[in-house]
Amino acid sequence: MCSLIQKYNVPGPRYTSYPTVPYWDLDSFTGKNWEASVKKSFAESNSAEGISLYIHLPFCENMCTFCGCHKRITKRHEVELPYIKSVLKEWSLYLALFPETPIIKELHLGGGTPTFFSPENLTMLIEGILSKAQKAETYEFSFEGHPNNTTKEHLQALYNVGFRRVSFGVQDYNEKVQKAINRLQSFENVKKVTEWAREIGYTSVGHDIIFGLPFQTKEHVTKTIVKTKSLMPDRLAFYSYAHVPWIKGNGQRGYKDSDLPSANDKREQYEIGKTLLGYLGYKEIGMDHFALETDDLYAATQEGRLHRNFMGYTASKTQLMIGLGASSISDSWYGFAQNVKDLDEYKRLVENDVIPVFKGHILTTEDEIIRKHILNLMCDLETSWFNGQMQFSDLPFALQRLENMRKDGLIEINSHQLKVTPKGRPFVRNVCMAFDIRLHKKMPDTRLFSMTV
Ligand SMILES: C[S@@+](CC[C@H](N)C(=O)[O-])C[C@H]1O[C@@H](n2cnc3c(N)ncnc32)[C@H](O)[C@@H]1O
Ligand code: SF4
Repeated sequence: MCSLIQKYNVPGPRYTSYPTVPYWDLDSFTGKNWEASVKKSFAESNSAEGISLYIHLPFCENMCTFCGCHKRITKRHEVELPYIKSVLKEWSLYLALFPETPIIKELHLGGGTPTFFSPENLTMLIEGILSKAQKAETYEFSFEGHPNNTTKEHLQALYNVGFRRVSFGVQDYNEKVQKAINRLQSFENVKKVTEWAREIGYTSVGHDIIFGLPFQTKEHVTKTIVKTKSLMPDRLAFYSYAHVPWIKGNGQRGYKDSDLPSANDKREQYEIGKTLLGYLGYKEIGMDHFALETDDLYAATQEGRLHRNFMGYTASKTQLMIGLGASSISDSWYGFAQNVKDLDEYKRLVENDVIPVFKGHILTTEDEIIRKHILNLMCDLETSWFNGQMQFSDLPFALQRLENMRKDGLIEINSHQLKVTPKGRPFVRNVCMAFDIRLHKKMPDTRLFSMTV
């Protein structure tokens, strides 16, 4: 495994979209063609499957120094109401594009820290969204809660408006690691919020754990998972720490590169974590995720319903996903668009009736085919070009690029399909990279991506 890591551990995208953000064709993107792609997608899919909403709530009281998310650190809670007002205004701008009432299949509150907002304000936000929409027959509402500030009132208020899934950021329970990432957070807090969620009636409680953090060792990962065992969350995100300090400015510079585990140590942390989670009954889902067999994410994997979008993996695929809030990314299936990140600019644009996207990409026919292959690989660990509609001109070269991985036993290929082997699972991003012709036409500034393994 060591030599494979040396060979394949290169900077690479995480494929929450294809094309990946650095390859978006910004020149041919306009607000008008974005709106047209949303209208088209809505007309095709709203009544059949509904739409998804992602709402970005960017505030956090404290800065965790490992964090790669878009956030604004503040203790001033008076920012809550004006922000909610802007999000609802942005929603009204999308509503104006829709000829009929949107049906919400999936709604996710991410951040930042959604539980920075008071339960009353979160209720107002959700009720404001739903006052102009309809919930799908089966819908999935979820949010990210910080174990240090999620209260029983938060959980109850969001439950009352339809939330049944919550995930809590845990990362690692070791104090030295927690100090390095400036995130002191006790097991007791995580236990408390997990138990509250279950008492209230949440059907899926998730924990986020990270490996590869500064000062983290295999023993720390083991101890974190042993503690996790006593709570048995329904889902676990087991993320590889993405070290991209050059993008996030000084935020991640609370420790030195030499404080990070080596690539081999990091891979061993993943292997031990994966093995322990397997013993506990968790099934690995796509990349980075584990779920108990009783969780819908597992059923979705078994039934080929698993989908990946900017929120990660989901069992509730929709063609159209609208991202509301500063920095949010939307996906109309025909195109992607990202909102401005600056909070003042976001507010100013929506107040002036402008959908606040500042960049995006409209997919070409070839992009659409490659996107399907990459989704197949990320969700099902296999893809096929048996159907002529899944073929594209660069396919023979993509297969040539995979030859080394085939020889190393990471994939199996026949004349019309490719399967990632269990040995190849940690390298699924590398397999996707072979299909990513935009990456091969123009090699990226490698600093944009974290390492693949
Ligand atoms: C928005 S936070 C979760 C909610 C809340 N703010 C909290 O921290 O508990 C989303 C998750 O992204 C993951 N994350 C953030 N930065 C990361 C990084 N640099 N590498 C890997 N995962 C990261 C963490 O696991 C974190 O729990
Ligand atoms: S990990 Fe969560 S709480 Fe910490 S800075 Fe990032 S978004 Fe905020």
